[in-house]
Amino acid sequence: MGPISLLLLLLFINADAKSSSSSFTPADNYLINCGSPDPTLLDDARTFKSDPQSSSYLSTDEDILASVASLPDAPPPSLFLTARIFHHTSMYRFLITKPGLHWIRLHFHPLPHPTYNLTSATFSVSTDDTVLLHGFSAATAVFKEYLINTTSDKLTLKFSPMRNSVAFVNALEVVSAPDDLVPDSASAVPAGEASVVNKYAFEVSYRLNVGGPAVTPRNDTLSRTWRTSGEFMAFPDGARNVSVPNDAITYPSGGATPLTAPYPVYATADQMADSATSDPNFNLTWIMSVDPSFSYLIRLHFCDIVSKGLNELYFNVYINGATGAANLDLSTLTNGLAIPYYKDFVLNASAITNGSVVVQVGPASNVVSALPNAILNGIEVMKMSNSAGSLDGLFSSDGAKKINSGMRVAAVVGLALSATAAALLLFAAVRWCRRPKLGYEKQKTFSSWLLPLNSSQCSFMSSKSKTFSTIANSGVNLGRFFTLNELKEATKNFDEKSVVGVGGFGKVYLGEIDGGATKLAIKRGNPSSSQGINEFQTEIHLLSKLRHRHLVSLIGYCDEQSEMILVYEYMANGPLRDHLYGSGHLPPLPWRRRLEICIGAARGLHYLHTGSTQGIIHRDVKTTNILLDENLLAKVSDFGLSKAGPASVDQTHVSTAVKGSFGYLDPEYFRRQQLTEKSDVYSFGVVLFEVLCARAALDPALPREQVNLAEWAKQRHAKGETEGIVDPAIAGTITRESLEKYVEAAEKCLAEYGVDRPSMGDVLWNLEYALQLQGAEDSKIHGADMTDDSGLLVASSPMFLEGLSAR
Ligand SMILES: *[C@@H]1O[C@H](CO)[C@@H](O)[C@H](O)[C@H]1NC(C)=O
Ligand SMILES: *[C@@H]1O[C@H](CO)[C@@H](O)[C@H](O)[C@H]1NC(C)=O
Ligand SMILES: *[C@@H]1O[C@H](CO)[C@@H](O)[C@H](O)[C@H]1NC(C)=O
Repeated sequence: MGPISLLLLLLFINADAKSSSSSFTPADNYLINCGSPDPTLLDDARTFKSDPQSSSYLSTDEDILASVASLPDAPPPSLFLTARIFHHTSMYRFLITKPGLHWIRLHFHPLPHPTYNLTSATFSVSTDDTVLLHGFSAATAVFKEYLINTTSDKLTLKFSPMRNSVAFVNALEVVSAPDDLVPDSASAVPAGEASVVNKYAFEVSYRLNVGGPAVTPRNDTLSRTWRTSGEFMAFPDGARNVSVPNDAITYPSGGATPLTAPYPVYATADQMADSATSDPNFNLTWIMSVDPSFSYLIRLHFCDIVSKGLNELYFNVYINGATGAANLDLSTLTNGLAIPYYKDFVLNASAITNGSVVVQVGPASNVVSALPNAILNGIEVMKMSNSAGSLDGLFSSDGAKKINSGMRVAAVVGLALSATAAALLLFAAVRWCRRPKLGYEKQKTFSSWLLPLNSSQCSFMSSKSKTFSTIANSGVNLGRFFTLNELKEATKNFDEKSVVGVGGFGKVYLGEIDGGATKLAIKRGNPSSSQGINEFQTEIHLLSKLRHRHLVSLIGYCDEQSEMILVYEYMANGPLRDHLYGSGHLPPLPWRRRLEICIGAARGLHYLHTGSTQGIIHRDVKTTNILLDENLLAKVSDFGLSKAGPASVDQTHVSTAVKGSFGYLDPEYFRRQQLTEKSDVYSFGVVLFEVLCARAALDPALPREQVNLAEWAKQRHAKGETEGIVDPAIAGTITRESLEKYVEAAEKCLAEYGVDRPSMGDVLWNLEYALQLQGAEDSKIHGADMTDDSGLLVASSPMFLEGLSAR
């Protein structure tokens, strides 16, 4: 090869390397050096804002700073030289321009301070829905890194000191990350497939450049640090490091990119020492200690920089003793040598013994022709949030740990809670104790993870209430067991005056316990109705597994004396429909409020569809099944008709007799009797137009072409006349952009064929966008909005559940 062709080849390789996207501009990029009087420019070219520059993000009632001139372990420029100290709970709030994956990075160094001893400071840090640190203290410099998926346009970082202590932070980062850094699914260990992996929050536990030098933020486009791996090797003598120049690596056209891991990770590896001569019965082993009560996402990076030809290297990969990949042949997977490849695993907490993650690679002994060898280039271990939405401890971010028993604690906490709100807090506590883990834990039954939680963390319930019980044989814990007498007392012996709703299988009563402090919705089944029994059982089984802020919570049940009674949280503001239209309807809700309600309901449905392995189809989405609590927070209710989704991937629907409510029925489901999540999406589209137009899904009193709202709305939209059908009460208050986005989303839901409809996640995103588009305009008319809101809250009347449905 002549020098010119070599040059051309190099140029070509270079161009190729550039073409695989190695740059990334974060949409959100908040870098703050807390307590620092000046901005700080790091050697990786990132500038951290000074404390004064970032004061608009901080909401606190105090101004305590600490600083030192220099630190032996952190020469300047350093983020560790200054800190902010919080005596009271304080928050940083950030606007998120692009929802999705975000890094949260926290830098701690306990600096000296005349009043506070930071080495013993104990505190918690949480986001809006994830606990990052709980009862944390830092005796030395500590760096914490998280990857969280935000769906909202806001992100709050809350620092909460423990009693008689303070919280502190030296620097923090909230930065957009590429959404494909976390996979949708991964191989589960010990077995199976883990889905909806991207629904979790993650804490980076380990990130290792195996066989290579440490990689610092300046060598990684995403500002990550990759540590060296030597200290984690079980038998370092059995390994030999190998490296090639960075430009020998060619990223594939699909799959790994320099953002997945930078060149230095793939250009270095550990392989077996003297692979040809030593006993091939041997594994390279890395051992990393972890908290065994969590599951972990493990990403292994490979790049065959040792083979001379294709198909020479076959090896096995083990995670905690289980086979993760057998006879891995990188050259076949990547169609060449020196091409990066990575593989994701979800290690279930149940498979973690000895408190460690063990990664092993060893030669595939059954492939005789190959040279026995095995390699590994990089390891990432990320802790996955648990069922309470926590990455540290068992408590959720709503501060519910402070609850030991109902009202007393509410007083201690000193929150100005109404009685109902306090009760809801208690219910929330029950809820997070029993929130389901998501799909990847399919192998574990629901009760197997539930029971230990109950025995330890939910014990405040047993001290408060009489008994815990489970319905015989079901193995599913249904929450608190109520005696029939208790419920009789709560409802004044099922007094007709306490009836707040009538549904498919019986009446719903408003009940009061704890001397009126706690309100409950008590659904009493009619034992003579067999349909009732089925729906009762469906609802028990589904609801007991589902816990979500936007799903009505089951609190308990009573099955004494062949009664079938379900006890739910009480939703003070009743069905959404009553706030839209109908006889005696309540004052009209402002547009922003309507959007928030739709977003809440969409969240609930999205969770139903994706929150469990199988996914659950509600089947009866309508405005009477969307209930509002005392803060007008929307929750989806009535799972009597719900069905578990298709059991396997290749099966895309569930065949079933058509049930549901007219006016909301998916036409495709009606024709083909095949139920998919998209049927719920259709019904939700009808709900969206009901909310916009404040009229019923079916109104026979209207002229013929207007009777069916879905048809009518589609027709008007096609003619570009949507504005004409908007509820006159709010017509002038909606921005054009918000209306357009909303109608576009609603209209897509009503597509004739399910495949053309968006997923609930897409709908959710579009609604949030519509809310943002309304945002700016709202501030102009904020005054008017507020009056509407408060007027409505005053006028809210106790009402509940399940209006008569047109099933
Ligand atoms: C690779 O191995 C050599 C010799 O065993 C050692 O000196 C060197 O530090 C190693 N490099 C890395 C990056 O671990
Ligand atoms: C990191 O980048 C610097 C210059 O940008 C370079 O000198 C250094 O070798 C790089 N380190 C690694 C591990 O690639
Ligand atoms: C490698 O590790 C796996 C999992 O721990 C084990 O089953 C296997 O026997 C090991 N192989 C050798 C050759 O020791």
